[in-house]
Amino acid sequence: MSNSLKGRFITVEGGEGAGKSSNLDYIRNLLSSAGKQVVFTREPGGTPLGEAIRDLLLGHQHTGMADDTELLLMFAARAEHLQQKIKPALQQGQWVLCDRFTDASYAYQGAGRGLASDRIASLEQFVQGELRPDLTLLLDLPVEQGLARAGQRSEPDRFEKQEMSFFEKVRAGYLEIAAREPHRVKIIDASKPLETVQQQIDHVVTAFLEQSGG
Ligand code: TMP
Repeated sequence: MSNSLKGRFITVEGGEGAGKSSNLDYIRNLLSSAGKQVVFTREPGGTPLGEAIRDLLLGHQHTGMADDTELLLMFAARAEHLQQKIKPALQQGQWVLCDRFTDASYAYQGAGRGLASDRIASLEQFVQGELRPDLTLLLDLPVEQGLARAGQRSEPDRFEKQEMSFFEKVRAGYLEIAAREPHRVKIIDASKPLETVQQQIDHVVTAFLEQSGG
């Protein structure tokens, strides 16, 4: 277990159009049905200050934002989120289910923007200390398929406006993390129909619940 607190910390990652929202609801129900008290949150965001930072990051007022600024804002929101919400919940034995976390910084700002991963690692250490997610589900699917799905939704945010090549790098970045940390990061094939995706999620979450003592 990578966090020494009482609760468990589960994160969900994936590219655009991977079906994060409906699958997060599904995971939340699985955990609640297993009797866990679940705190459901997201990054960037999760606190009033974090949500204000999210607006700066995803909105279109600062389209020319420097890559370093983007990275630091992600970690500023994360520092607030950890202090105000994630750590207190874990200390009380609650299970935290978070829509994206630091793997997204490695995938988007690292692989996508090309920032050096050792700089991200030093921010990770600075902001999180030893705290890491206990389990991460990576909803993976080909970029083209994801963008086609995402394109059917509302007005694109600042990230959704990136080129296809950016998202290819993000996907490769996520898969590299999963290859390096197979114990923590479980790849879910999100290109499959919803029912098959949910079966994969069941399998991973059930195994994790068993390993965590029910
Ligand atoms: P989403 O929650 O709708 O997926 O939007 C959040 C966007 O922020 C998404 O495009 C990924 C991006 N992001 C990063 O670039 N770095 C990060 O560390 C996090 C948490 C999100």
